[in-house]
Amino acid sequence: MMIASKPIHLRGGPSCSMMSQIKMVYFMLACAVSQLKLSRNANMEKLRNGYLFPEIGMRQQEHLEKYPDAKIISLGIGDTTEPIPNIITSAMAEYSHALSTREGYRGYGAEQGNKTLRKTIAATMYGDMGIEDTEVFISDGAQCDISRVQLLLGSDVTIAVQDPTFPAYVDSGIIMGQTGDYVAGSSKYGGIEYMKCGPENLFFPDFSRIPRTDVIFFCSPNNPTGHAASREQLVQLVETAHRNGSLIVYDSAYAAYISDDSPRSIYEIPGAKEVAIEISSFSKSAGFTGVRLGWTVVPHELSYSDGFPVHKDFDRIICTCFNGASSIAQIGGLACLSVEGRKAMSKVIDVYKQNARTLAETFGSMGLEAYGGSNSPYVWVRFPGRRSWDVFTEILEKTHVITVPGCGFGPGGEGFIRVSSFNSEECVREACHRLTRLLGRDVLLHIL
Ligand SMILES: Cc1ncc(COP(=O)(O)O)c(C=O)c1O
Repeated sequence: MMIASKPIHLRGGPSCSMMSQIKMVYFMLACAVSQLKLSRNANMEKLRNGYLFPEIGMRQQEHLEKYPDAKIISLGIGDTTEPIPNIITSAMAEYSHALSTREGYRGYGAEQGNKTLRKTIAATMYGDMGIEDTEVFISDGAQCDISRVQLLLGSDVTIAVQDPTFPAYVDSGIIMGQTGDYVAGSSKYGGIEYMKCGPENLFFPDFSRIPRTDVIFFCSPNNPTGHAASREQLVQLVETAHRNGSLIVYDSAYAAYISDDSPRSIYEIPGAKEVAIEISSFSKSAGFTGVRLGWTVVPHELSYSDGFPVHKDFDRIICTCFNGASSIAQIGGLACLSVEGRKAMSKVIDVYKQNARTLAETFGSMGLEAYGGSNSPYVWVRFPGRRSWDVFTEILEKTHVITVPGCGFGPGGEGFIRVSSFNSEECVREACHRLTRLLGRDVLLHIL
């Protein structure tokens, strides 16, 4: 409990102000010892180990304290590093300046987002997929909408996730109360279907062996494995959802990284509009991790078992729990989707894609299995017989390079690390050099 650090000076005889100061001291002392008569949310108690990325940040800090001169290279957290193209920032700057004028001032916008941006997303991202502007809800990023979709779903649903997967689906599910307790031996939470996705099954679950759940969270290209699901795989996913009456929550935050003919949206698959919500983001395509902008598509065709439209409920959630994305960010989003903006974004994405190829080749040249990297900014590297945190620690200790331990993405990630291509070309080359020089031989010794 914090108590004001400034001393309280009592001068002269008793006065009103002196009495109030004494009362204040008593109040602060009482505050120092009392607690709320409020019990902790039992769902919060279920969460283990804090959130993955703050944990890595803490380890990085400890490493810096141990080696203050170390030149740490972060290939860990998936945060973009390249500057946002000028065509995008100048549109935001112009709009911001106009806010200081009587004519240009704007207050609240529509909760669902700027109409022109909704139309432009429907047209440019979903072309001939039949997505209408009214089905597109503009958000302040995919992570926030994952939680808003969870609010929509409530606590009384069963969920399935890819294993490994981006942790937000599981963690928000726990907070909502959709899961049981953590089962230490299995590193899983009760009540969640973990769909193992590894090299053995081409990173796609065998749905014939997975019990039905109300909701299937599916991320493609996947964070952390970097695998982009093929058209055939997504057809299976949509067919499974139809057969089971399950809702797919499809996260396409990395769609802009797809280089081959893998679908960029779940709505490329016939029948998806009746079973899927898609969550997406400008974070990794436009460097908007700090600006904050994304969108969620909730098709009009989606309805609950009683026929009530899901769209109506999501609209209600957005109006109640969100008041619309920043108008400045939305202008930035529009600039991103202009012809020039798209060209500029794809140049930036190419930098990260080249980095990813360099990383994949480096690990490959050490004789390690390296996946992803061609349709995604992430490379997923297997270290046979070793534990992820041990590999993370060894790499950090010997090369001052930050990675992410695969087990942080679910039990299926044990034995892997995720390496991110979000850094400058120069830093990635330097990291590869260190990894090859300092780690290559050791790794080979471990696996031979
Ligand atoms: C798969 C996936 N979904 C969503 C997010 C969150 O994105 P945003 O910055 O739009 O909140 C991330 C961020 O790393 C991610 O990897």
